[in-house]
Amino acid sequence: MPSTPIKPLRTYGRRGGRPLSARQSHLIATLLPRLRVPVEPGKQLDPGRLFETASEIWLEIGFGGGEHVSGQAKANPSAGILASEVFVEGMAKCLGQIEDAELTNVRLWEEDARDLMAGLVDQCLERAFILFPDPWPKTKQQKRRIIQPGFLDELCRLMKPGGHVRFATDVRSYADAALERFLAHPDFKWHPERSEDWTCAPEDHIQTRYQMKKLGDIAPVYYDFTVG
Ligand SMILES: C[S@@+](CC[C@H](N)C(=O)[O-])C[C@H]1O[C@@H](n2cnc3c(N)ncnc32)[C@H](O)[C@@H]1O
Repeated sequence: MPSTPIKPLRTYGRRGGRPLSARQSHLIATLLPRLRVPVEPGKQLDPGRLFETASEIWLEIGFGGGEHVSGQAKANPSAGILASEVFVEGMAKCLGQIEDAELTNVRLWEEDARDLMAGLVDQCLERAFILFPDPWPKTKQQKRRIIQPGFLDELCRLMKPGGHVRFATDVRSYADAALERFLAHPDFKWHPERSEDWTCAPEDHIQTRYQMKKLGDIAPVYYDFTVG
């Protein structure tokens, strides 16, 4: 009998929040369909085909209110950014930022980021960002954290050799567990030279509203891994 694939555990909390404003509803109805990454079940897409001029493709997973996505897209017009968020209000905010700044280098995915990843070809990404992911701090919930061995295998499949992955958190138990998992993986390398390399925000980091709430139990750590 063929085995049924095991659906990974949900890594996010709520998807809906407050009612959207008229503008936000309009953006979800009109702009999101134009910017949605057209991945199809059973097929794999080369995301380079979605951008006319992008010289690099980046991925951001769980972008919250979109401040980092839109800030990076503005600062790096030659990067094509795939950005994923399941929280509808966050998606609506990001769409507003894209429209206001007339960004043409962002494509969006409003379902689980892992479904987007499954629909992309091997070695298509130069950079990936997982910033302040849902921490699931209670011991019983930690299996919901997105940094799991299978997820790292899949991320690795998508990264070009020499590509860069940034993970940030302000929750100590997640910082420790994620670092251990990345370092247990044969293809993620981390070679900091001094503690400032992970305790100070990287020069190109863009702070988000979520980060500024300081909900964690430590000052943020930023781990920049190289792949390959
Ligand atoms: C704690 S928030 C941080 C948001 C943002 N990265 C920041 O730093 O402001 C984590 C976000 O990841 C989203 N998320 C969690 N799991 C996800 C998944 N599998 N696919 C897409 N988004 C996800 C959640 O909806 C949530 O908005």
